[in-house]
Formats: sequence, C-alpha cells, structure tokens
Amino acid sequence: MKSAYLMRQQPVSIYIHLPWCLHKCAYCDFNSHATAPNQFPEHLYTKQLIADLTQAATLIDGREVRSIFIGGGTPSLFSPESIAKILSTCANVTQLKDRCEITLETNPGTFEYQKFAEFRSAGINRISIGAQSFNDKHLTALGRIHNADEAIHALQTAHKIGFQNINVDLMFGLPSQSIEEAFTDIQTACNQEVSHISYYQLTLEPNTIFHRFPPQLPNEDTNWEIQSNGLKILERAEYQRYEVSAYAQEHAQCVHNTNYWQYGDYLGIGAGAHSKITTHDGILRNQRTRQPDSYMQAVSNQSHVLQQHLATSDQLIFEFMLNNLRLVDGFTSDTFSTTTGLPWSHVEQQVNTQIEQGLIEQAHHRYRASAHGYQYLDELTQRFLPNQ
Ligand SMILES: C[S@@+](CC[C@H](N)C(=O)[O-])C[C@H]1O[C@@H](n2cnc3c(N)ncnc32)[C@H](O)[C@@H]1O
Ligand code: SF4
Repeated sequence: MKSAYLMRQQPVSIYIHLPWCLHKCAYCDFNSHATAPNQFPEHLYTKQLIADLTQAATLIDGREVRSIFIGGGTPSLFSPESIAKILSTCANVTQLKDRCEITLETNPGTFEYQKFAEFRSAGINRISIGAQSFNDKHLTALGRIHNADEAIHALQTAHKIGFQNINVDLMFGLPSQSIEEAFTDIQTACNQEVSHISYYQLTLEPNTIFHRFPPQLPNEDTNWEIQSNGLKILERAEYQRYEVSAYAQEHAQCVHNTNYWQYGDYLGIGAGAHSKITTHDGILRNQRTRQPDSYMQAVSNQSHVLQQHLATSDQLIFEFMLNNLRLVDGFTSDTFSTTTGLPWSHVEQQVNTQIEQGLIEQAHHRYRASAHGYQYLDELTQRFLPNQ
C-alpha cells in the first residue's frame, strides 16, 4: 500500500490504441484489423475512446503524465482532426508534463506530407515509422503495403516537416535474408539520421499467416551474427543500445517505452489496451475489450474494462524482472520498491543467487543482466517465476 503523497510522486504514461490497418501483415499478432481506407468507424471510435479516457483519467488524478503513445494498428490512418481531439482531451483531463513526449505510430504506406504536418500541429512531437526493411523482396514477403523508396521518402519527409524525434522500426531474421542484406538494412536506417532505431528479430507468432505457412528463416547462427555485428554498425553510427531491441542517439531514448521497461505506471485506452496503475489498495492491472466493435458498444454501458485485478507479489516480481532485465543499465532496489510497492527484501535472496551464478551483476547500486545473462535473458527471467 502506498501513501497518497508517494503515489502523486510517481509519473504515469498513457497508451492509446487505434486498431485498424490497410492490410494484415503476415507476421503480425497485434490487435489490428484490416480495413479499406475510410471504411472504418473513425468518428464513433474517437468519440468512445474520448469517453473512456475521460472516465479513466480519474485513476491517475493529480499525477503528471510524462508520455503519450498512440499505437496500433496504423494510427496514421486517422485524420489529424481526430488525433487533435484525442490529444486535447488528454490535456484537459490529465496533467501533462512540460515537453511531454507524444508519439504517433505510422506506416510508410499511409504517409502524406500534408497530413503529417498537421499531426505535428496537433501536438505529435515524436514519430515512429514502420519501415521493417529497405529491401522490396523482403517487404513483399512480409506482406507490407509499401516499398523501400516509400519508406525512405517517409523518413525524409518526417525530417522536412521538422520532426527531430524520429524512430524507425526495423526487423531482421526475415525470410531468406542473408547477413549482407540485413547489414544493408541497418546501414540504410543509420544513413537516414533518425534519432532512434528499434531493431527486432522477427518471431513467428500464433494466429498469423507465417505461423500457418512458416517461411524459411535464417538459422540461429546467422541471426546471432546479424545481431552482434549489426550492433557494431549501429554503435559506429553513434546509436547506443539501451534495451534488447532499442538503440538511440544521445538523449533520444524513448521515454514511453523506457517507462514500460522500468515497470512504471501506464493507463491504456482503446480496444484491448492494458493498464498498470498504483492505487491505495495495491497495483491494479486491467485490460479493455479487444474487438473494436465490442469495445465501442461496451464503452456506452461502461462494461469495456475486463479482467480487473490487484497484482499478487509473485506477479509483480516476475513482471518487474521481465521488463527491467531488458535494460542495458538494469535497475536499482529503489526502482523495485517504487514500481512494485514491495520491499527489496522480497527479491534480494533470489537476485543474490543469480549474482553468484554469474547471470546478474551489481555495480554502483545498480543490478543488471551480465553479458551471459543478457544472452540467455528468457532463461534468466524464468528464474523469477514462483517456485523456481
Ligand atoms: C505495433 S507494430 C505497429 C507499427 C505499424 N503498424 C507498422 O507496422 O508499421 C510495432 C512494431 O513491432 C514489430 N513487430 C510486429 N510483429 C513482429 C514480429 N512478429 N516479430 C518481430 N517484430 C514484430 C514491427 O517492427 C512493428 O513495426
Ligand atoms: S501495419 Fe503494423 S499493426 Fe498493422 S498488421 Fe502490419 S505490423 Fe501489424
């Protein structure tokens, strides 16, 4: 349990989910639904989302909002007017921090100069562009709606519009991708001088086309070489790795995602969004109705929040480690206590065991995965499950 004073001290982030895309990519298991342009209920969804946000804001009353992330789906399918309405509601019903980071996720296939300049005027100050690759053969295999030229054009346009905070999403380990092709992708991303690169290894997720019809993916050794030598290309271009898949120029780490990795509080609004909020009674976890149509209906009778519960100590410890061990700089015992509400003694012995086994290292009051632990992160994280 936390005092009201301590709770107010803890900043919070807001995630807004906009769940439509022009096409479902072959690898994607996100809560995203294919639609034809202008055929999705933008106005009704925006209205219901704003009603949801206005009600839910009471949960974070008085706390400073340090970031907003509008993700999807393809949020750039929405009009700048709808994005402006959502952001002005955030400003009216919560307390936004000065220079609050406000990200919009976009797809190069839905990128138009005019619209993106208007997103910026609406308050978006960080743009995330899903390039995935700069190779047309791989983009086609992934089921993307854009080609490499369009991805580069989107990045150049974002610069021209005046965005200084630009992220590019890139994936590796793509069907039939060679090591050289992966390096060319990374180098191309670095050449665009974006401030942030998210570099994910492609995974085959249940309920995707790739799961049903698995493509030929590079083997483990090839992926290992792509990742370890790719890291060197990124570092030479002055991108520092700060999380398993995140690389940033100086002072350009993503505030929003860092909050997730530090296990800070966040309010998730929109279809299927999750929240983690510290309350007087404990740490509240909940999830909203996943299907967009059901979500819109449920907001009207206030039944859109499902699976609401207070997290147990075991869940809090596991989720804290699952997130914080991904950070290159790790965590402190104070972060553990402020984000879980538990005393450090709850986990100290387990952490010390991992230190003895060489999987966690401690320096200057910080704990982090050792080089060996980072290599076997899933295994290390599993050790924080109950009864391990
Ligand atoms: C929520 S998605 C949405 C971004 C945007 N809709 C787009 O695709 O351009 C965020 C990122 O997660 C990554 N991603 C999605 N599915 C993945 C998978 N199966 N394996 C690895 N990365 C994945 C992609 O890089 C994607 O850009
Ligand atoms: S555009 Fe993004 S969210 Fe939509 S299906 Fe593709 S990867 Fe998923």
